[in-house]
Amino acid sequence: MDVVLGIESSCDETAAALVTSDGQILAQRIASQDEEHAPYGGVVPEIAARAHAQRLAPMIEAVLGDAGLALNDCSAIAATAGPGLIGGVMVGLVSAKALAMASDKPLLAINHLEGHALSPRLADPALDFPYALLLVSGGHCQILRVDGVGQYRRLATTIDDALGEAFDKSAKILGLGYPGGPAVERLALQGDPRAVPLPRPLLGSKEPHFSFAGLKSAVMRAHERGEHKNSDIAASFQQAAVDCVLDRLGVALSGQADLPALVVAGGVAANETVRGALEEFASARSMRFTAPPMALCTDNAAMIAWAGCERLPLAQSDPLDFRARPRWPLDPGAEKVRGAGVKA
Ligand code: KG4
Ligand code: ZN
Repeated sequence: MDVVLGIESSCDETAAALVTSDGQILAQRIASQDEEHAPYGGVVPEIAARAHAQRLAPMIEAVLGDAGLALNDCSAIAATAGPGLIGGVMVGLVSAKALAMASDKPLLAINHLEGHALSPRLADPALDFPYALLLVSGGHCQILRVDGVGQYRRLATTIDDALGEAFDKSAKILGLGYPGGPAVERLALQGDPRAVPLPRPLLGSKEPHFSFAGLKSAVMRAHERGEHKNSDIAASFQQAAVDCVLDRLGVALSGQADLPALVVAGGVAANETVRGALEEFASARSMRFTAPPMALCTDNAAMIAWAGCERLPLAQSDPLDFRARPRWPLDPGAEKVRGAGVKA
């Protein structure tokens, strides 16, 4: 049985984990930087990179201690090598290279999106390829077809904002804290989702892509008009976002009748309204629905270690001069979409 050390530092979570090839998480630690970035209402790359550099080495030591293992007990060292904020990615990748060199173990340079794409199999060992993946977080908003390790086809992406970004920006407009998603969801519970007429960008369009910039602007205008309660704006925003997601999924999956399962990953998967709507969508199509537990949905290192576990048996490792990639699409062959690809 292999044990892989995983490192994640591509955005504002510093994380390390030890995962076995039979899917046990032996240890994991995560340090969020919410407090550092909160005054700015978003992630500041320079502050993030410094925080990763301060925290990562002691965290790796602590995780090994938690599991009672030494570096030499690991079969490989896996780290996110992109896409993400380049300063943070470099901190994690360089650390992994140093550990790999010192212990003479293979380095696995993991695509962060591949970590999200494969994480449902860590949570649900019965989940077989192929499956449809809706990846919705602050930085990513895609629908992918996952046929195997390294076999990803992008069916849809966003032409402007990611869904989590739309939650965060709407939260900022409504004067809620950062990160905004959970705050919007809480406030929406007290509001009426039909109270504020808001647009559903691209609804009904033939191409399955997403767009949320117009929805966010409409939230801003509704807020400025001052005619509605914030809770009604939050609930109406959330409903509009869910309507868009279901419509886009319907188009993306219309030609993919052979996919038996729908999987959601990324921070927005924490949202109960989103999850509930996806569950209904899948059940109406007789698809199995699965969502990893929250700790695996948001950025974490267990998913990076697990992606390493999935790649090891395929004899896939990377050279020590592997370069960090700020942009790294999972499906490089995907058709270019106007305005898209900025974040992934
Ligand atoms: O996956 P993640 O931790 O980091 C990346 O962006 O890669 O996702 C964070 C995003 C943020 O935009 C946050 O507002 C959103 O996920 N989020 C939510 C909820 N919890 C987190 N969005 C809506 N409802 C939630 N309950
Ligand atoms: Zn992520």
